[in-house]
Amino acid sequence: MADHKRIGILTSGGDCAGLNAVIRAVVNRAVRAYGWEVLGIHQATHGLMVDPPEALPLSIRRVESILTHGGTMLGTTNKGNPFAFPMADGSLRDRSEEIIAGYRKLGLDAMIGIGGDGSLAILRKLAQQGGLNLVGIPKTIDNDVGLTERAIGFDTAVNTATEALDRLHFTAASHSRVMILEVMGRDAGHIAISAGIAGGADIILIPEIAYDIERVCAKIHDREEHGKNYSLVIVAEAVKSAGNQVMTQTDGLGECRLGGIGQHLSEQICKHTGAETRVTVLGHVQRGGVPSPLDRLIGTAFGVAAVDLIAEEKYDQMVTWQQREVRSVPLEDAIRHYAAVNPLGTLVKTARGMGICLGD
Ligand code: F6P
Repeated sequence: MADHKRIGILTSGGDCAGLNAVIRAVVNRAVRAYGWEVLGIHQATHGLMVDPPEALPLSIRRVESILTHGGTMLGTTNKGNPFAFPMADGSLRDRSEEIIAGYRKLGLDAMIGIGGDGSLAILRKLAQQGGLNLVGIPKTIDNDVGLTERAIGFDTAVNTATEALDRLHFTAASHSRVMILEVMGRDAGHIAISAGIAGGADIILIPEIAYDIERVCAKIHDREEHGKNYSLVIVAEAVKSAGNQVMTQTDGLGECRLGGIGQHLSEQICKHTGAETRVTVLGHVQRGGVPSPLDRLIGTAFGVAAVDLIAEEKYDQMVTWQQREVRSVPLEDAIRHYAAVNPLGTLVKTARGMGICLGD
């Protein structure tokens, strides 16, 4: 048995379904196989920034019934880069040393960070600066973390978006409308292309392929000519508008976020075709809910493997899902290889093979 250790675990960045499955697996593996202590750090690195650090001991009992729960029992945040942390007076402060101090105060031997590419890059920078022993686990509905075929949360988001298309199908047909579904994914079109194919969309627009509104409208006309008086469009939030702009909206706190391409497209399609259009913005519904069996399965496999990496003292690694196996890669490489949709890859070929319009 490896030496006794106290390990920390935190979830960072936007939440998604399957995070609790990972936490449960980490605790079970660490306690059952190695007899270690696990501390759950509250709200990403924010829990380490405060004095005393905010963390709770996680026993097998404590994580017993969380497998099917959405969200994260530890809380998370996608705000407040610790290297340029926004302070109450409006200034930005480097608070990295406070986080490193928090890790030391908790007496951690190692830490598991569950995050997307942005969070993992920040955690790695902290680990390098402070000599922290870090293992990363990829999660994000966007599925854009490099060197892993799957990140936690993606499958559930695709299921949700597919179900939305299934529902829109019937109402589109009943009313002879063009239904537009705007989905998340940040700069990558993974959710849109996967759910679009699975949900039988007629038009799929992703940031990786520039679209021409005339092609989109030609597809709608073509369907009409073949007796199909409705169309289903799925569009990823970072697809650029006709003016080559990413569409954003400002929230009540003055922060700018992606959104609005669905409405823009709806107006364009209506103008060019005269079709009646409706827009559904799926939003955070994609992030919440009960995790799919695949997210639970991969999350559990990732959690077990991450603990085993710590037992082997293999740090600065990220667990990955490759060819039906959990493997590990240097965290640095995973961060460097951003995973966008391959415009020449299988899914794009499949969509084209099915006569789905990709806008080009
Ligand atoms: O990265 C996950 C994600 O859900 C993106 O797809 C989306 O653009 C963003 O987070 C939304 O962030 P917020 O929760 O801050 O609205």
